Amino acid sequence: MIPQNLIDKLPELKTPLYYYDMDLLQETLNAASNAAKPYGYHIHFALKANFNVKVLETISATGMGADCVSGNEIIKALQNGFHPRQIVFAGVGKSDEEIRLALEKNIYAFNCESLQEIEVINEIAGSVGKKARIFLRLNPDVKAHTHKNITTGTAETKFGISPLETELYLKQLDHFQHTELIGLHFHIGSQICDFSVFKALALKVNEIQDHFESNGVKIQHLNMGGGLGIDYKHPEKNPVPDFKGYFDTFNQHLKLRPGQEVHFELGRALVAQSGVLLSKVLYVKSGEKNRFAIVDASMTDLLRPALYEAYHKIENLSNNGNTGDILDVAGPVCESSDVFARNIALGTTQRGDFLAIYSTGAYGQVMSSAYNLRSPAHTLYSDEL
Ligand code: LLP
Repeated sequence: MIPQNLIDKLPELKTPLYYYDMDLLQETLNAASNAAKPYGYHIHFALKANFNVKVLETISATGMGADCVSGNEIIKALQNGFHPRQIVFAGVGKSDEEIRLALEKNIYAFNCESLQEIEVINEIAGSVGKKARIFLRLNPDVKAHTHKNITTGTAETKFGISPLETELYLKQLDHFQHTELIGLHFHIGSQICDFSVFKALALKVNEIQDHFESNGVKIQHLNMGGGLGIDYKHPEKNPVPDFKGYFDTFNQHLKLRPGQEVHFELGRALVAQSGVLLSKVLYVKSGEKNRFAIVDASMTDLLRPALYEAYHKIENLSNNGNTGDILDVAGPVCESSDVFARNIALGTTQRGDFLAIYSTGAYGQVMSSAYNLRSPAHTLYSDEL
């Protein structure tokens, strides 16, 4: 997966280093677009997964839209080729300034997460003489069967409008004159590989649409969020996610009304497998119970293992894959959770070896921090090699 010319060049390069395979990115984007096309589905890339300029330029060039969760993401999307009419703005806590900015830039729609937020958007839109297009992000109470920290569509999470607030909204629709309800939005979680979860979501959305219609409210469009998972265990076998299976599931189970558009907000599935974090072994040490490879990347470069105990495949690129050492791979930060993997077979490993930590193109670089006053990782794109 890592080209030999990159492996040869590693001693000259600075690590930790995020390497992006731009051919794989393009192949993934093409697969997603081709799978969505027959159904006329619209894809918005969730910028929160990766906002590197080159990645954004590549994605916007395909004609996809953007899913933003802050004013800064809206600005970033606009600066990198995304059309304002293809930008959706989500998030439970949009500030007044961010709402003003989104109105001023004429984005496609706000995904609203509470009754009070709709009230504020209505007020601000009125004050600037505009009508805000809104989707209601509803909490459908559908289990995503994924990590609890990335589950967003069950009743106890902070996300989405509850059935109680939805009923209150329906009773006072006429009150929100400076907003136009153009659709319903859902996002139930991330890293979902079981398609029956998406089927359950589609069936729930059918019921919710019927309920709105029985209240005299016609739903123009649907936004089904993101969530499609990737194969962290075998990135080499499955570099491109099953977009066809994903969109087919919705096509089979969603009951669309005539003229209804369906939108999706994919993040991870579009970019994760294109990114690899490369790191150098600083020390190999023996503890009482385990042996450790201490590497120069840390949780400040890739937080997922520390935050979610997430698995990322790791390979030693310097030892030709021989068998040998069983090691924990840990970073330099002063936290016991700064560990990328425990008890893995890395082959004979020594100071100066280079490790590849795979599937890090999504929620990797974007979640970096400066904890311990560490420097940010370097970046290399395959077309610059
Ligand atoms: N739409 C909304 C409203 C979202 O909240 C998210 C992700 C997405 C779309 C994109 O979801 P995706 O297709 O990437 O699953 N940091 C975590 C993931 C957090 C996801 C947050 N929301 C991780 O590293 O696994």
